[in-house]
Amino acid sequence: MTTALTTALDARKQNAHLTFKHNQHNGRHGWLRLTPAYSVPLVSNILNGHKYTVKVLDPFSGTGTTALCASYLGLRATGLEINPFLVWFSSVKFRNFSSSTIEKTMSLGALISVASSSADAPSADPPPIHNIERWWNDYDLRFLCRLKACILDTSDEGSDERDLLLVTFCRVVIALSNAAFNHQSMSFKDADKSPQLFTVERDNAYVFRKELSFVLNGASDNPRREPIVVIGDARQPSRFLSDKFDMLITSPPYPNRMSYIRELRPYMYWLGFLTNGRDAGEYDWQAIGGTWGVATSRLAEWQPSDKAFVPTILKKSLIEISDPKNSNGRLLANYVAKYFEDMWNHLSAIGSLLNEDSEVHYIVGNSTFYGTLLPVEDIFKAMLQEVGFHDVEVAKIRKRNSKAELFEFDVTGKKNQPDEQSLLYAGK
Ligand SMILES: C[S@@+](CC[C@H](N)C(=O)[O-])C[C@H]1O[C@@H](n2cnc3c(N)ncnc32)[C@H](O)[C@@H]1O
Repeated sequence: MTTALTTALDARKQNAHLTFKHNQHNGRHGWLRLTPAYSVPLVSNILNGHKYTVKVLDPFSGTGTTALCASYLGLRATGLEINPFLVWFSSVKFRNFSSSTIEKTMSLGALISVASSSADAPSADPPPIHNIERWWNDYDLRFLCRLKACILDTSDEGSDERDLLLVTFCRVVIALSNAAFNHQSMSFKDADKSPQLFTVERDNAYVFRKELSFVLNGASDNPRREPIVVIGDARQPSRFLSDKFDMLITSPPYPNRMSYIRELRPYMYWLGFLTNGRDAGEYDWQAIGGTWGVATSRLAEWQPSDKAFVPTILKKSLIEISDPKNSNGRLLANYVAKYFEDMWNHLSAIGSLLNEDSEVHYIVGNSTFYGTLLPVEDIFKAMLQEVGFHDVEVAKIRKRNSKAELFEFDVTGKKNQPDEQSLLYAGK
């Protein structure tokens, strides 16, 4: 494996600089935390090794790390993403902002900071999140309702200023919340261990000003080329994209039962992308690997298609997972089978959007089910080979967590095998 990514990496280590953690204080890349996001160095290390790359695609764009990173390097970049909140969010993150927009947002922020501190300020309705008191205490919730109303009253609908203020609002929503991010995904802080979080009345207007300053600092660093983000389904990419790309770098969902809706729901409810729990389940069912709400009951009824390619290593894992001694083994085998059928649909369709000499990088993580190690990287490799990619290789890039067997890998491949003429030319 010869990509720049694996040079000087010790894959036995967690290499936190390859995860979202590296992005947190990195301008726009740090605007929104998504636990499964990957890092700027991971993408830039790959791109720096390919000086002829012009157009970059990320078909599972998430918070837009790939496209923004590529565009800071002067490349043209496109993201495809199924979640409407992430599409809105990355469209703001990708945008060019003039200095007058930034100054105007700063002035509006000063007005909003004063207005939202007054108990008599207008107030928006709290979002219909289940058990909302687990997220925010009453004092902070009332502040957030006033802050949202002040942002909507002060800024023009559809304006850049409003979008920057709403990104700031998302950050305040999390800064004031009782959410803890010390697990694979989000959970709640323990009230007994951190009682001050539940009782202290903070200077919330200060929190807003601090977050606004962080957002505007990132907004003033414009990408060299504005990337594009398109809402759509990576299982049918050519329905949504017509361009051709030289390089694909992506991190698809992993088959680890992580729900994106679970982590994103506070933002999605506050900004009106979600209004009830049933829709949350519907969104998760549309996304690959979703398990939230209705997605689980649909999985139980799901039937595989006979058109999908199922490599032998996947068949073997499915038999082991569905063993009757595993409680819910059949459901989880269905989960894994559907995940890979979805990935097969994606991988078998993506080639039509790639130029002849293009290269793909799938950053994937393996999983375990009832002690069965699911070799996700080898299944991706087998599928890429089956759809005709060449030089398909797997490189281990980092240890994922305390479980000794869980790693992340870079699965790479090239669209075309070099022809004899170019091999001769290269003296091989
Ligand atoms: C691991 S995350 C990508 C994180 C990204 N690399 C970043 O740095 O933010 C995978 C993304 O795939 C999206 N996704 C899931 N199913 C999809 C589908 N069928 N089509 C397009 N995007 C999908 C999820 O919503 C999620 O944002």
